[in-house]
Amino acid sequence: MIEFRGAGLRVDEYDIDGAHRQVTILDGIDLVLSERRVAVIGPNGAGKSTLLQMVNGLVEPTSGEVIADGVNPVQDPRRARRQAGYIFTDPRSQLVMSTPLADVELSLRQRIRNRAQRHQSALDLLTRRGLGDIAARSVHDLSGGERQLVALTSVLAVEPTIILADEPTTLLDLRNREQLRRAFEELDQQILCSTHDLELAASMDRVIAVESGRIVDDGPAGEVVARYRERMTRQADAGVSR
Ligand SMILES: Nc1ncnc2c1ncn2[C@@H]1O[C@H](COP(=O)(O)OP(=O)(O)O)[C@@H](O)[C@H]1O
Ligand SMILES: [Mg+2]
Repeated sequence: MIEFRGAGLRVDEYDIDGAHRQVTILDGIDLVLSERRVAVIGPNGAGKSTLLQMVNGLVEPTSGEVIADGVNPVQDPRRARRQAGYIFTDPRSQLVMSTPLADVELSLRQRIRNRAQRHQSALDLLTRRGLGDIAARSVHDLSGGERQLVALTSVLAVEPTIILADEPTTLLDLRNREQLRRAFEELDQQILCSTHDLELAASMDRVIAVESGRIVDDGPAGEVVARYRERMTRQADAGVSR
């Protein structure tokens, strides 16, 4: 379970004349997320990534607090990062090793000390996800979809209880998006996923809509997505941009 208790983020900004102002990135977020799969939707710059990053301590709230499975990421960032795995939009930002096998082995380093066991376990995890054949291939030669599934396998190898996924399908084609959606569906972990992929959002248990740092809608996936489409169409008609 993930709880936001009045969580907010205000940052100092200085313009080119040195004039100071405070900008509110997130404002008084109150949420109790107990559903297994939750999507966060909203226009660019709404605060989606910031909201996700408060769950594993990559961003510290300047007001209120976040409690994820009993852990306050500000007080215990190491534990928060271990329990909440983060998936980036571009898997290249997180695959640090040259092959899928080496990358998953690296994720297992804390848990499995023995090298041969770690190797076998990494291969098993990749094989279970249908990636056994590409385990030793260069990560540069993988398709975007394969890369994202390798990133997911690597993150899962740490045995997190929460998966934070930041627009994980944005760079994927339709088939790979569908594959990732299915992989998400099978996970036991709680998933908090920001996305512009409204099909992915609609397949979740609950959707939160964020605009300008505030929650503007929250509820069953289909309904929130339908209202979001209406709002965005209205805003486009009215010439709203940012
Ligand atoms: N540390 C920061 N300092 C200043 N501005 C920030 C900081 N972090 C995020 N922002 C701004 O806050 C807004 C929300 O960012 P973000 O959470 O990345 O939105 P989203 O993921 O919905 O596109 C953006 O306008 C971004 O430029
Ligand atoms: Mg973002």
